[in-house]
Amino acid sequence: MSSPDSSGREGMNVLVIGSGGREHAIAWKLAQSGRVARVYAAPGNGGTAAEAKCENVNLGRDLSGEEGQEALVAFAGKHDVGLTVVGPEEPLALGIADRFRAAGLAVAGPGRDAARLEASKAFSKNFMKRYGVRAPASREFSGPVEALAYVKEHFAVSRRSTGSGGGNGAERGSGWLPLVIKADGLAAGKGVVIAPSPETAEGAINAFMRDRSLGKAGDTVLIEDFLEGREVSILAAVDAGPGRAGIIRPFIAARDHKSRFEGGAGPNTGGMGAIAPAPGFTEACREDFTAAILEPTLRGLEAEGIDYRGFIFFGLMISGERCYLLEYNVRLGDPETQAVLPLLDSDFFELCYAIALGGLSAGSSPVPALKDLPLRWKPGAVCAPVAVAEGYPGPYRKGDPIFIDRCRLEKTGAKLFAAGAQQGPVRDEGLYTAGGRVLALAAPGADAREARSRAYAALEAVSFRGMGFRRDIGLAREDAVETHGR
Ligand code: GLY
Repeated sequence: MSSPDSSGREGMNVLVIGSGGREHAIAWKLAQSGRVARVYAAPGNGGTAAEAKCENVNLGRDLSGEEGQEALVAFAGKHDVGLTVVGPEEPLALGIADRFRAAGLAVAGPGRDAARLEASKAFSKNFMKRYGVRAPASREFSGPVEALAYVKEHFAVSRRSTGSGGGNGAERGSGWLPLVIKADGLAAGKGVVIAPSPETAEGAINAFMRDRSLGKAGDTVLIEDFLEGREVSILAAVDAGPGRAGIIRPFIAARDHKSRFEGGAGPNTGGMGAIAPAPGFTEACREDFTAAILEPTLRGLEAEGIDYRGFIFFGLMISGERCYLLEYNVRLGDPETQAVLPLLDSDFFELCYAIALGGLSAGSSPVPALKDLPLRWKPGAVCAPVAVAEGYPGPYRKGDPIFIDRCRLEKTGAKLFAAGAQQGPVRDEGLYTAGGRVLALAAPGADAREARSRAYAALEAVSFRGMGFRRDIGLAREDAVETHGR
C-alpha cells in the first residue's frame, strides 16, 4: 500500500467525498495518520482546502448523480487513491460505494442495499421489527385517507384518556399525546414533524402525501408514538457481510442539538452543535443500548446477508435508562463527528481501511481486521457549537467575509471545522460564508464544563455578518423532546 506520492511522501492517497463540517473533520483526522500521503476532498470546502496534506478536487459535476459518481471513480483510479470515505447519505443511497467496489476500489461506506436503512424509514422500521430492535411503536401508511383516519382515532382516544388541557410535559399543554409523522424517504431534515395536535398531524400528512411537498419521499409515511427523553447519537464502525461474522464497534456517545434556538425553541436544523461524551449517558445506558439495539441490529445484518462496510449512526432516545432507536443513518453524524473525532486516540485511517477491506482485512492485509483494531479515546470532552448564517434554517445570507482572530482562537485550543465556508477568489485571502451552517469550533476540555467554556471563548474569536449560534450547546439541561430524529 506504500507508494510515494508526487511530493515523494510514502503512504496512501485517500479521497473524502462531501463538503460539510463532517467531511472537514474526517479529512483532518485522516491526514494525521502517518500512513496517509495525501487527502483529496471532493468537492471539500474552505477548511479542507487549507488543511495540511489536503487538496480540494473540483470535478464540476453533481457528485450525487451517475455522471458525477463515475467521475469520482475515474479520479480515484487516475490518482492512485487507495481508500475512499463517503461522508453524506445521498451518494450512498444512490450506490456510490457499489460503483467503487465494482471498479476494485476500497471504500468506507455501505452499498445502496444497506443504505436503505436510512433512505427508507419504512424499510428501516420493518428491519427493527423483524430483529427486535427496541424502538417506538409505528405504523406505515401508503395513502392519506388511512393515515388521517389513524390520526383522528389516536387523538380521540388520547384526549379521552388524558383529559383536555391536562397531561404531562410531552403533550405540551394540549392534553393530547403527540404523534410523530415521518416521511419515508430522504428529506434533508424536513421529513419529521412532531404533531401535538390533530391539526398539525393532518397538516403534515396532507403536505407530504397530497401536496407532495417532498416529492416521492413523502408518498409513504410512518406515524410513530412520541417518546419523551434525551436524544443521544452513537456513531459506530461496521463490518458485516455474507459468509462472515459481523462486528459493530461503537464510538463514545455524543449529543446533537437540533432546534435553532436555546432550550429547544424554533425550527429544526441540521444540528446547531454537539458535545461528546453525551452528558448522562451512563454505563447502564450503554449496556442497555448494546443489548436492546446494537446486538439485534448486528443479528439482522447477518441474517439478511447485508454487505455493510461503513459507518452507522444510531439516533437514540433515552427514557429513564432505557434506549429506544429513533433512526439509523448510514454515515457519520454532522456535527457529532466534529465533537467525536478529536477525542479518538487511534489511527482513523486504519479504522476506515479495515472497514473498507471488510472480510479481506485478515491475512495479507496491511491493517488488522475491525475486530482486532484498538479503539482508544482521549479523556475529557469536546464541545462543538456551530455558527450559522443569518436566516438559517430558512433562506440565508451568503458571501460574507469571516473574520478570525487566529491568535485568540489558538489560545482556546479549539479546532475550526469549516462547513458552508469557502475560500475567496484570491488564495490565502480568507474564508467567506457559503452555506447555512458555516463552521463549528470544537474545543477540548478536561470535562464538559471546561470544553463548553473554551468553545464559547473560541466563538468570540470568530465573526461574520449576521452570525448566529446557540448558547446552550452541551448544557446538561435537556432539550431533546422536540426533535425526534430527522
Ligand atoms: N446530527 C444529525 C445527523 O447527522 O443526522
